[in-house]
Amino acid sequence: MRTPLIAGNFKMFKTAAETVTYVKDLRGLITASKVFGVDVVIAPPFTSLSAAVDAAAGSVIGVAAQNLHWEREGAFTGEVSAAMVHATGARLVIIGHSERRTLFGDTNETVNKKTHAAITGGLVPIVCVGETLDQRDRNETMAVLDKQIKESLDRVTGEQLSRIVIAYEPVWAIGTGRNATPAQAGEAHFHIRQRLKQWFGLDASEKCRVLYGGSVKPDNIAKLIAEPDVDGALVGGASLDPKSFFAIITGAAAK
Ligand code: PGA
Repeated sequence: MRTPLIAGNFKMFKTAAETVTYVKDLRGLITASKVFGVDVVIAPPFTSLSAAVDAAAGSVIGVAAQNLHWEREGAFTGEVSAAMVHATGARLVIIGHSERRTLFGDTNETVNKKTHAAITGGLVPIVCVGETLDQRDRNETMAVLDKQIKESLDRVTGEQLSRIVIAYEPVWAIGTGRNATPAQAGEAHFHIRQRLKQWFGLDASEKCRVLYGGSVKPDNIAKLIAEPDVDGALVGGASLDPKSFFAIITGAAAK
């Protein structure tokens, strides 16, 4: 069985000091309730990674970056490499989030380079895919997902895939308050699982965790995670408050 994973994507919110306060609050809630059986990750901005790792030491909370550059070092002003992220103590990284794809030029090709850089650098990539509203309306959702997954995970081995996390995030559901229905999420996740089986083998496909993302809240997590192929959630807005993030973690513990 796959352990559910709830990951909070802070986006461009919280200073290092604010992140530390957040981690203290969240670990307090987790310790008091003895929630277990759920992996918990937060992805604060680069400037908060070290502080988050220190504040989370000895707890169940893992720390992720939100992006990286695929080169180890070089003349790439403003960029951060996998080795640099790893040196902070963070052990995961979100790659190809739709905001990076739309606003900052990430493509399947660069997502693929970043994914390989993450794996080589000892980080677990959380690779994001998802269709736009136009694509859904044109019935292209599954074809779009196929292309994104095939190209973003090009040359990834089955063994590597078993440790990778995929986040299915329909673009129209991100930050809009309009989540996919559990049936829509379940259908897309089932499709992704079938493709992973076809391309990477049964064993790897059963181990790879596929998260749902897009307007996940305390009141919709239970129904989403009840879908057999939904292994957790990538949470944006509702992760910024430790209480609401904790409520989502608790909702996932039912799985
Ligand atoms: P949201 O964001 O939960 O605010 O919709 C999800 C994401 O962007 O990962």
